[in-house]
Order: sequence, then structure tokens, then C-alpha cells
Amino acid sequence: MNPNEWARQRSWTLRGASTEYTVAVPEHGRWLELVAWGPYGVSDGPSPVGYDGPTPFLTSGDAAPIEYGTDAARPFAGPDLVVETANGGRRVSWGYREATGDERSLAVTFADPVTGLRAVVRYEMPAGTDVVRRWVELTNDGETELRLVRIGSAGFCVPTPHGARLSYQWGQWAQEFQLDQVDLGHGGFTVGSAQGVPGHLYVPWLAVRDQAEPDGPTWGMALAWTGSWEITADRDTGGLTRVRVGRHLPDGPLDLPPGASLELPVAAGAYSPDGLGGLARVWHDYQRQLAGERLGPRPVLYNSWEATYFSVDAENQLALARIAADLGVETFVVDDGWFVGRPDDHGGLGDWTPDPAKFPAGFDSFVADVRALGLNFGLWVEPECVSPRSRLYAEHPDWVYAIEGRPITPIRNQYLLDLGRPEVAEFVHSTVDGLLRRHDISYLKWDFNRPRTEPGRMAGTGRVDLDGAHVANLHRIYEELRRDHPHVVIEACAGGGARTDLAMAARSDVFWPSDNTGPLDRLAIQYGFLHANAPHLLSSWVTDSPGLFDPRPRSLAFRFVLAMAGVLGIGADIRHWSAEQRTEAAAWIARYKEIREIVMHGTVHLIGGPDQPRCAVQYTSPDAATVVVLAWHTGRLDGTGLLPSRPVRLPLRGLDPAAGYRHGEQHYSGAHLGAVGLPVQWTPTHDADLIVLHRA
Ligand code: DGJ
Repeated sequence: MNPNEWARQRSWTLRGASTEYTVAVPEHGRWLELVAWGPYGVSDGPSPVGYDGPTPFLTSGDAAPIEYGTDAARPFAGPDLVVETANGGRRVSWGYREATGDERSLAVTFADPVTGLRAVVRYEMPAGTDVVRRWVELTNDGETELRLVRIGSAGFCVPTPHGARLSYQWGQWAQEFQLDQVDLGHGGFTVGSAQGVPGHLYVPWLAVRDQAEPDGPTWGMALAWTGSWEITADRDTGGLTRVRVGRHLPDGPLDLPPGASLELPVAAGAYSPDGLGGLARVWHDYQRQLAGERLGPRPVLYNSWEATYFSVDAENQLALARIAADLGVETFVVDDGWFVGRPDDHGGLGDWTPDPAKFPAGFDSFVADVRALGLNFGLWVEPECVSPRSRLYAEHPDWVYAIEGRPITPIRNQYLLDLGRPEVAEFVHSTVDGLLRRHDISYLKWDFNRPRTEPGRMAGTGRVDLDGAHVANLHRIYEELRRDHPHVVIEACAGGGARTDLAMAARSDVFWPSDNTGPLDRLAIQYGFLHANAPHLLSSWVTDSPGLFDPRPRSLAFRFVLAMAGVLGIGADIRHWSAEQRTEAAAWIARYKEIREIVMHGTVHLIGGPDQPRCAVQYTSPDAATVVVLAWHTGRLDGTGLLPSRPVRLPLRGLDPAAGYRHGEQHYSGAHLGAVGLPVQWTPTHDADLIVLHRA
């Protein structure tokens, strides 16, 4: 279609790998509506979401499947955008102006002659994905200041005629990514964060399907925003569920002065005909595309946090590194505690100089010793935070978020730097960049251990978009570091998984999802995580048993197979491991290196769940020739095998029923593996398995 034709029409279809998304501007031109969202061809028929019947005591916009609605368009059902003029007036009402785009992208412009507000509603469907990226650019073309009271990025309409089933993830520190669901008959459901960071409490991710078809068509939404956010779902009387996704403004409205523009973050929508598992695969493909060329195998790492905590010194780290190297570890990461003033979590943050007392021969000589063992070297930092007991804070007390005349709230004994300020951003960038230039570092773990509490600056500069400025500089610094140090792997961490969103998935290589590495707790955390995130983002360590949070015992094999579901690491005090344990660990690491390409690139099927007798993850290689199955025994270990019992069967998915699959001497047909399942027999000592099937 030529661009003129495109501009003349009032209905547009975007096409992804197998999904289409059709929107239209109705005759009246007051908004953009969804026509259909689903598999190719779904738009060819009456719209499943459109409505032009009576709306007594409502407005037509409240019932319409509006893509991006102001409070004039959706006064009762909930707008995506609320704007106030200087005299307190609301109800922005705009009209259609123009559209540009093609099959992969679309930009539809609306303008309000009264306020001068212009909105460009944007879409992108990246080739090879079933994800639609949506965001809005707001510009004040008027002559007076506007106040942005609510700034959603997008509204997504999902047909749920029999009631909506919403899947979401809740959590807390050390218990993130708990997958749960709620059935929504009528009314609303909200998740979000007011912490200036995505947070531990909820994940900016939601899945919606019709209650009558729980394994059928499933729509997902996620936000690419590393600050405060909100996702709401409302099901109306007519069976339409509308999901609003966007930034949350816990500190009040934002100013949009004349001539100014604001670009809102990308809200991504995903579609799969195959339930939650299918939706997970859509997100995996998308995140793999976000990783681009950086989607190589992540190194097997050792992290010293749980072994030495803050008592880091060259001697104990080298003792750990020597053993790690023997086990086959590739990168040795020194966690918190390596810098001056950091014997515990009461000081040091901000003063990023290696502690000479801990590295008496010099830090570089220590790094060289680690490297001489054949290991790459990694370092922990938390550059956005500052300890009140630090030189940085003594020199720049005005750099932290604060409200003049009021005490600052310490969390984990630390304050938060106002990264939105240029001089602070410069300090953070040059600190990390300097460390990477000065020392031979191949891996960076960037941590963040407190939310933002004070919504202000010491100097009291009036209303500022603190969240927006912080996030923009954070993203820019990550991008610059990756550009200037392309070989450094960056792990994003925030006291565990409080900073996992699509924007970080595009800028970091791996996430630390939780401080909880206790085997069965971790299984549940990873199960939720993999519904929203691809395996290359899942950093996981084998730690000592019993775990800190979850004392339920599991074998070393269980803990290894569990950590192999993503990016394998070890966080145990391996100095105390027996020769037998070390031999076993070395064998697991060697096996992981054989399968990690398939874990990174394979098609994932989540089988059963952590609260079910069968629990496994299947990774099928892109050429479908190899199938890796990681399986865990979720039940009690005592009594297992004493009573007559048949093996647990793991139904594998996506295999060719007519093909044969081999595991050692055992042969299975694809039909058997799909219909009956791969057998695994648990015993008190055999509580996990790694099975690799080869297509015969
Ligand atoms: C929180 C992280 O999640 C841990 O892995 C560890 O790095 C500590 N911070 C260090 O303070």
C-alpha cells in the first residue's frame, strides 16, 4: 500500500509473526478503537469488541473498545489520560488529524483545539514477534501550562464474554514472582508500584483470558518502565475487559509547559492461542529479540555473597576462586563489601574505592590473581545509593532525595541519590565507567537496595518529574556502559527481583530474581519468573542447604538442576564442600555447558508447577533435534518409594508424534511422550533429573 492510501484510510492492521492487530478511527473521529487482536485473519468478521448499541446513563465511549481514551471519551469507565488546565479544567476532547505507518508501525495523531494538547498514539509490531508495542507522545501546542494527572501508555481490550481470568505475579523481598490468578466477574483489579522502581510487590505483567477457555487464547500486557507503574483491569457488563497500562504518578501531577513534549513508556501487548504457557513463549521470543547480539551463552559464575557476606578479603576470595576454577566456573564475582567503609551495611556506599585493608597487595593484583586461575572477574556495585556515613554524603548532602526541613527516611541504612540531577548522573556514570576502565572487569552486578521515599529535592525546585528523570538517566547510563564496554555482562538486581521490567530486559543481560535460593521456594520463584521472562534473564545460584529462607532439604542435584533452568551460578561456601560434592558439582557444571545453548535459545514448555506432583521445564532446540527436560520432585522425601508407586509422567509438548526420541538405551515415540509423558521415578535420594532426548 502506498503512503497516500495509508493516510486516507481510517482502519489499519499491524502484522507480527502470526498475530494481527487492527484499529480504526470511527466516523466521528473522537478516538481510535480496537477492531480485533488475535491470529492472522481475526479482523475478517464482525469485531468481537466493538459496540454501538445503547449506553443508558453512560456515554458511548465508556462502552467502546477505545485504544487511548481521555476523560472526555471515557468519563465513567476510566480514562488513560487526564489533563488539567491552569484553571483546573479537565475533559480533554480531541479529534483525529492524521495517520502514518505500514504493516509494522502506525502513528495516529489527535489534537485538542481547546487546550492545544496533541497526542501521537504509536504502535510497533517487531518482525518475528507476536508483541505489539504501544506508547504515546504528548505535546503542548497551546499557550498555557497543562498538568498531567494520569498518563497511561495504552489501553488493551480483551473479549472475555464468560468472565475474565487474570494471572498476575505478587511477592515481597525474598519471595518474588508468585504466580497467582483471580477471576473477575465485574469490577476492577489493580497492581502497581509507588516505589520509584518496579518493586518486589507486583510484576508489571498481566495475562487475561476468558474463564471458559483457560488454555485457549491468552492476551498479555507488560510495561517497559523502571519506575512507579500501574496496571488495572476492568470488566464491563458487556464482557469486555479493558487493561490500562502505564506510569503511576504517586507524587502528584506533572507539568507540561507550552512547547514541551513527553514520551510515555512502551506498554507491550502479547497474544498466544495457547494459554499462559504459549504467552510465556511469546514474551521469551520478544526478550530474545531485545537481547539481540548479546544473546550468547552467559558464563557460569561464582558469587561470594553468601559465603563471606561483608567480610570480603583477598585471601578468602582467592580461596573460593581456586575451588570455583576447579569446578569449571568461568566468572568469579565479588559481591558487596569490597570497598572502603563497608564492614557491614551501615557505611561505604558512595565511596567506591577498593579497601586497601582487604586487598593489601592492591586490588589489581587481586584481580590478576583471580584471572590467573582462568576466571573472568566480576564486581558488585550499588551506585545510586549512599550511606550517611560516607565521604560522598559528607561532600554532597544535597544529592539525595529529600524534603527540606524533614528527616530523610533511611532504608537498609542508606539514602538514595537523585539520579535525575545531571551532576549525580555524571557521578554515577563516571564511577562505574571508571571502575570498568581501571580494573579488568568482565561482569558487573548493579544492585539497588531501597525504594525512593522522599519525593523532593533539598533545594526545593518546584514540581519535577523525579521518577521520569531518574529512570531516563538510569537507562542512558546502562546504554552508555554497554556501548563503551560491550564485553561486560551486566546483571540487574534490586535486593533480588525488584527491578525486572521490559526496559531493563533491553538494557541488561541477566536479572537476579530473588535473594531466596532455598530449593523449593526458588522453584516457585523461577516458575513465576519464566512465565514473564526468558531463561537467559534468569540468574540462579546453587547455595548451601539448608537455605536461609527455605530450610526444606533437597539434594545437591536438585539445587544444580534448578539453577540450570536459566544462567547457572554457585553461591555456596564451596570451601566447606567435600571432595565428593565438588566432583558432583564439576560434573553438573560440565553438563550445563553442554545444554546451555538450548536453555538460552530453546522453546520453553512449563510442565505442571511447584505445587503439583509433576514439575519440569522442557527446552526444545530450535532445530527440534534435542529436548532438554529439567524435572524436580516437589513432594516429601520421606516415604517416597516405600509404597507401590508408578513414575511421575511429564507430558512433553511440541514434539513430532511420528518421530522417535532416544535417551540412552531408552526409546520413545513423540506420541508417547506427548500423550503419556516422560517417566521420572523419585526416590529419597533422587529428587531431580536432567534428561536430554535426541531425535532418532
Ligand atoms: C542484595 C542482593 O540481592 C544480594 O544478592 C547481595 O548482592 C546484597 N544485596 C549485597 O548487599
